[in-house]
Amino acid sequence: MTELTQNPTAGSAATDAGSGAKAAHPMWSSRLAFILAASGSAVGLGNIWKFPYITGENGGGAFVLVYLVCIALIGIPIMMAEVAIGRRGGRSPINSMRQLAQRDGRSKRWAWIGGMGMLSSYLILSFYSVIGGWALAYVGKSAGGLFVGATTEQIGAQFGALLADPYSLLLWHSVFMALVILIVARGVTSGMEKAINILMPLLFVLLLVMVGYALSTDRFADGLSFLFTPDFSKLSTEGVLTALGHAFFTLSLGMGVMMAYGSYLPKQVSIAKTAVTVSVVDTLVALLAGLAIFPIVFSSGLEPGAGPGLIFNTLPIAFGQIPGGVLFGTLFFVLLVVAAVTSAISLLEPVVEWFEEQKGYDRLRCTLIGGISIWALGILTILSLNEWSGVHPLGFIARFEGKTIFDLFDYATANLMMPLGGFFTALFLGWFMSKQAAENELSFGNPLAFKLFMFVLRFITPAAVLLVFVYNLI
Ligand code: PHE
Repeated sequence: MTELTQNPTAGSAATDAGSGAKAAHPMWSSRLAFILAASGSAVGLGNIWKFPYITGENGGGAFVLVYLVCIALIGIPIMMAEVAIGRRGGRSPINSMRQLAQRDGRSKRWAWIGGMGMLSSYLILSFYSVIGGWALAYVGKSAGGLFVGATTEQIGAQFGALLADPYSLLLWHSVFMALVILIVARGVTSGMEKAINILMPLLFVLLLVMVGYALSTDRFADGLSFLFTPDFSKLSTEGVLTALGHAFFTLSLGMGVMMAYGSYLPKQVSIAKTAVTVSVVDTLVALLAGLAIFPIVFSSGLEPGAGPGLIFNTLPIAFGQIPGGVLFGTLFFVLLVVAAVTSAISLLEPVVEWFEEQKGYDRLRCTLIGGISIWALGILTILSLNEWSGVHPLGFIARFEGKTIFDLFDYATANLMMPLGGFFTALFLGWFMSKQAAENELSFGNPLAFKLFMFVLRFITPAAVLLVFVYNLI
């Protein structure tokens, strides 16, 4: 395999005296492998758990519209910028940023963007893995028929009992994290790529099966109209910020994940086309997940605006009532686990890549250091759900009143760190990196398209992020 292929970017690194580029650097074995890996990162709990419930909370169609605009004007350009920076740097996000900044005569402090990204990875994966654990637990519950004929109260009590029990949460969090460590430790091509080649097709099949099932409920049309009929009176400014934050979260942007994956991207692959493909796949999956979930919810006479419990409370009630609920409920939670695992490995990768470069330890050791420290951090999220649910560290600030440590991690990453990281990534490629290098990396194959892209990345994208960001702060 190409595991030991020389990193083609090392060629351009030759001009970068003293870069100390590693001789051997793994590479995705094809364009498709990268598309699947990046889509695997993008498609996750964000698409199947978060998108449907925030859409429900924000009233449906109008929110979806704003979200789509955020993906097109902010998400896609930033994804291209991240992948381009990653491929040109050929290293972990921190070292790629540092090296490119130096090469183009800029401040070394640009590496901080990579550093903030790594911190985001730590925080996000620490709670992401706990929620991945819920999904694992729910595969068992569903297959065991625990939802069949259960009342709303009983289902609510089951979810409540899981969240209230730190030991079960710890068990499932540990199983989930172990799975992620196992895959990442085996390396980029022999571990991650191999797993992704199985998991992503499985994910698409399961999703289509679920949509097919939703089609059979005869409330499909209501699902469609809920998602696609905009009612702007239901959309608050808070909703607009949520849409922006979610565009970052769902495309795995603003934290270096796409840079890390880009550092393994073969030189000849067009970044522009691939980034658009990945974003389209991610968006389609979110919409299809909505089309799978809302009809099932409506067909049981339930409400779509149930918040984070939509998947774990509302949906099981529905599965407990409709024919085929045990089978399809189980498949649904397997789908959720698969989506979560392929995202979680992408969150661990930048951390591992950085440890490899920095410390020179072998892959297993780096994965264990990163994985276990993130696992330990996850305990804070677990406790936030029960023993420490009354602990609100920033409660003295009105905005953070009532927010647990878990809530703060979620808020800080999705609403602050990711948009900020994306903002500076756009600025770096748009204004500070060599224009020639940007054009070479992105390989639009059409000067006009590149000009248009640069215009959007230099002005529209940063302005849009800033606008929403500042609006939120005041
Ligand atoms: N994009 C993933 C999702 O939608 C979450 C994620 C965020 C993964 C950031 C990697 C980096 O669930």
